[in-house]
Amino acid sequence: MKRTRRLAVSTKATVNIRRLMRDLNAIGRIGIGDRGSVTRLVFSIKELRSRQLLIHLMRQAGLKIHIDAIGNIFGRFEGSDPRAPAVLAGSHLDTVIHGGKYDGPVGVIGALEAVRTINEHNIPVRSPLEVVCFVGEESSRFGFSTLGSSLVAGEVHPKDLTNAVDPQGTKLADVLSSLGIAQRNMQGLRRSPKSLKAYLELHIEQGPILETKGKRIGLVTSIAAPSRFKVIFKGQADHSGTTPMDMRKDALVAAAQLVEYIEKVCRKYASMAQGRVVGTVGAMKIEPGVINAVPGRTELSIDIRGTSAQSKNRVARMVKEQARTIARQRAIGVEVLNIREENPVPLDKRLLRVSRELCDEKGIDYEIMPSGAGHDAMQMAKITPAGMIFVPSKRGISHNPLEWTDPADIWLGAQLLMETMIRVANEKL
Ligand code: GLV
Ligand code: MN
Ligand code: MN
Repeated sequence: MKRTRRLAVSTKATVNIRRLMRDLNAIGRIGIGDRGSVTRLVFSIKELRSRQLLIHLMRQAGLKIHIDAIGNIFGRFEGSDPRAPAVLAGSHLDTVIHGGKYDGPVGVIGALEAVRTINEHNIPVRSPLEVVCFVGEESSRFGFSTLGSSLVAGEVHPKDLTNAVDPQGTKLADVLSSLGIAQRNMQGLRRSPKSLKAYLELHIEQGPILETKGKRIGLVTSIAAPSRFKVIFKGQADHSGTTPMDMRKDALVAAAQLVEYIEKVCRKYASMAQGRVVGTVGAMKIEPGVINAVPGRTELSIDIRGTSAQSKNRVARMVKEQARTIARQRAIGVEVLNIREENPVPLDKRLLRVSRELCDEKGIDYEIMPSGAGHDAMQMAKITPAGMIFVPSKRGISHNPLEWTDPADIWLGAQLLMETMIRVANEKL
């Protein structure tokens, strides 16, 4: 199917694709590595540089900048009623290890471009507009996702931080306290729901549905949420040459059994009716981790997600139980460390309707769909109406250097975001 590269829009103003792609590419060069991969782990120098570039771009755009204690950046554009609650739009700039350049930045730079266009074309808006970059959406460093937006939503609880430690042993709680954020003032970052009218996030789909169906826009109904935990098997490190097979306490074989079990049980709960459960062991530490020693200790980082809280929680419970069974059968130790337990989040139907009406008016073919990936919108939905717009990912690939979205689709997504922001800022929800 040949795509129309430009579509008519309700406002005459169109977002500037060249400027949008220029800024996306500038952000994408920060942390660039092998095969065009991008790595900007939260609180790394690269991630801080991307935030500095954003501050520079926001200043150039004339936005009033506010940075909170964790480093979330808000760039405000006043509407005609400064006391009206703000329409917030954005996403994140941190990435996974060896990720792509669009997961996150499309939402931040897309929102910035929307506000720049509104400003240049003197489009009247009643509510203030705020562009936001949330810190630490990805869980790749501490196993803890949506850090900045969770703080803004008042959703970080000290118990959640207990087991959030990076591979070098740095504790997230220590990083927070070095930034002046401790148990006693954690709620201080919470944004008053009264100050917000809505939160909107443009994001790449990170899955294959839109491309498969030939749709250019996804309107998101809900976000699947994860249960995250670690399982540690404690066997015994022994000489690989001298220890007979029947006398080993091999922690890696136990881990392998659990990995296989996770695949099996998640396949059982994989259908839409069963709650679209997916499970992943994305990281594993093996100790001592040498060729000539029986592994004495393994630590598995486990992520179970689903669109039904009940199915997801059931699978998480089954996996923990199976870990104990395996340890018992192999006469080794086991420990389960919970990281974070979240529930699937519905997004706001009224915001979806605004974007859907715009698509209908313009003849844009859209798909109404849930999100399997996590997003800052799932935290923001707890304090304000939240909506998300997806654009297609080539071959559904994401968290991978091959992540790619057609610039024409990024343009269309940013355009729809801008028009949705204008309507939401001017109309009663
Ligand atoms: C965010 O990218 C996630 O892990 O869903
Ligand atoms: Mn991601
Ligand atoms: Mn993302």
